[in-house]
Amino acid sequence: MPPDETASGHIQSMLHPAGPAAERIAELWWVLFVTLGVIFAVVMLLLWIALRKKRSEHAFLGNRFVLFSGVVFPTLVVVGFLLYSLTTSLALRLPPTRLTVEVIGHQWWWEVRYPDHDIITANMIHIPAGEPVRVRLRSADVIHSFWVPNLNGKMDMLPDHTTNFWIASDKTGVFRGQCAEYCGLQHALMAFSVKVMEPAEFELWLEKARTPAAEADTPGETRGKEVFFEAKCSSCHAIKGTEAAARIGPDLTHLADRLTLGAGTVPNTRGNLAGWVANPQALKPGVLMPPSYIPPEDFHALLDYLVSLK
Ligand code: CUA
Repeated sequence: MPPDETASGHIQSMLHPAGPAAERIAELWWVLFVTLGVIFAVVMLLLWIALRKKRSEHAFLGNRFVLFSGVVFPTLVVVGFLLYSLTTSLALRLPPTRLTVEVIGHQWWWEVRYPDHDIITANMIHIPAGEPVRVRLRSADVIHSFWVPNLNGKMDMLPDHTTNFWIASDKTGVFRGQCAEYCGLQHALMAFSVKVMEPAEFELWLEKARTPAAEADTPGETRGKEVFFEAKCSSCHAIKGTEAAARIGPDLTHLADRLTLGAGTVPNTRGNLAGWVANPQALKPGVLMPPSYIPPEDFHALLDYLVSLK
């Protein structure tokens, strides 16, 4: 994903908030950083002064100073931060939302559903700009954690419990999300993209995303579709509008629209797709998908078909 795809110019950064929740978190972070930085500098200055004093001059600042700076001041600072972080937590409560997205964590990818729109996709979330979106989270296996630093804090995804969260962005663009809970070998390569679109553009996307997959219309694509079933790709993947309906791996209905393959592992190009299908273990060791042994002509036909899934 090229960096200029993102609105802020930063793919993944909590210091470049794009929405109201992330702005509150960034503000809290900066206030803590600056206040504690100043306190640290003053403490170091006093330490330096104290070290330069002779032993006989040690009590130069008096008991009152010790009482104030050792008890009163720290208490005020800690209580102040407590109140401030509580008000931040209140501001981060789930606001009323119009749209719900369901995200299910798998080792190591993200299943994305729009329950009110009959859409199932993977590793990429589309949302409209300028409104909060509810994100319902759960996991199909171990604990994962949903985190898009530009849009909000993080929220755990649990196997036996649904957690509710929200994201919102005032800017259009693409932001990177990352699993934030260690979940096994490829935890680091469990990423996703959030594409924030103009509301009208998002409505068009919803229309398109719920349609069945494009029909195979060239001889290569037609043969590729046969290979998809012969090579048993359909044992794990679904393609809407075909017989393939398995939910072990990501839904491939509109695969060609995704920015990356393997949940943020590599950009979604035909070459990378070839490498991924031939041997996913080389790109993401430990992933559930096995290598495939498909004769070259059939292999190219399969790629023709997969890249046609727009
Ligand atoms: Cu999923 Cu770490």
